[in-house]
Amino acid sequence: MGLLLKAFIPLLGAALAFYFYSASENFNEEMLRGKRVIVTGASSGIGEQMAYHLARMEAHLLLTARTEAKLQKVVKRCLELGAASARYVSGSMDSPTLPQELLREAENTWGGLDMLILNHIGQSGFTYFNGDVEHVRKLMEINFVSYVALATAALPMLKESEGSIVVVSSIAGRIGGPFTAPYSATKFALDGFFSSLRQELIIDKVNVSITLCILGYIDTESAVRAVSHVVPDAPAPKEECALEIIRGGALRQREVRYPPRAVGSMLLIRSLAPEFLDSIIRSSYHVENVRRT
Ligand SMILES: NC(=O)c1ccc[n+]([C@@H]2O[C@H](COP(=O)([O-])OP(=O)(O)OC[C@H]3O[C@@H](n4cnc5c(N)ncnc54)[C@H](OP(=O)(O)O)[C@@H]3O)[C@@H](O)[C@H]2O)c1
Repeated sequence: MGLLLKAFIPLLGAALAFYFYSASENFNEEMLRGKRVIVTGASSGIGEQMAYHLARMEAHLLLTARTEAKLQKVVKRCLELGAASARYVSGSMDSPTLPQELLREAENTWGGLDMLILNHIGQSGFTYFNGDVEHVRKLMEINFVSYVALATAALPMLKESEGSIVVVSSIAGRIGGPFTAPYSATKFALDGFFSSLRQELIIDKVNVSITLCILGYIDTESAVRAVSHVVPDAPAPKEECALEIIRGGALRQREVRYPPRAVGSMLLIRSLAPEFLDSIIRSSYHVENVRRT
């Protein structure tokens, strides 16, 4: 049984990867040239890498996060890499006015918007749920409600341009593993909201695509710091991850899975044998290293 699974899972992963990525042959970096793109959570990690790819592709960029000093550096680098233009608006996504402020900036400087990439997340520990309901409320505000507010504010301009919304989610938004209860809840919520909204846009014949990105473990500084003492897997590279997200958004794909084999295999096992998957996750983690808060 063990041997069979060892051979079966990679094969299945490869088949799923082929299925999900066969459309990517049509991708051309020129698709992004001159496009007006907002990237949230762009001061570090995957968001920063997306900004650099888009800059090389000569897009117009409006970046946001809280830390102004980091955003200034990212904007400077984007201009060096060839961005058609690059600017930032700094602020925290738990502020109810930031989404409007960002979209006003896009309207005033560009007169429209082609792509909204929702990527930021608030801080949340990789640990047992400690009963802190206020933390769950705050994280919902940052990781979910602000995504809804930004998409809502952007929709009029995206309808005009027949543009795209890209929502960066996680395997934790499809599978409830341990030590991520608040984070996982926010990511499941994104799937529910944006999958339902996608259906409504199709019914209304509104040509705005919604791409949901289901990411596995990626080598960003914050993720490695949070989970490397518990999760034994090697993380996938953030640069490639960022490019796959942009590719999926440009091709108006319904879903991006990255790394495709790992994510595809987990989702398949979850649908065939959820309890088996739960036990694989529990037994592969170094749970003895998880600190309780
Ligand atoms: N890395 C992984 O293993 C992994 C796995 C699955 C899914 N993902 C998803 O990928 C996306 C990016 O993750 P990452 O690893 O690149 O994260 P990261 O490096 O920690 O970056 C998070 C970004 O969000 C910003 N941010 C944090 N709190 C904020 C707030 N209150 N308001 C506005 N912006 C805020 C941060 O900048 P400031 O601190 O300057 O505000 C930063 O730019 C997330 O949606 C995450 O769920 C990542």
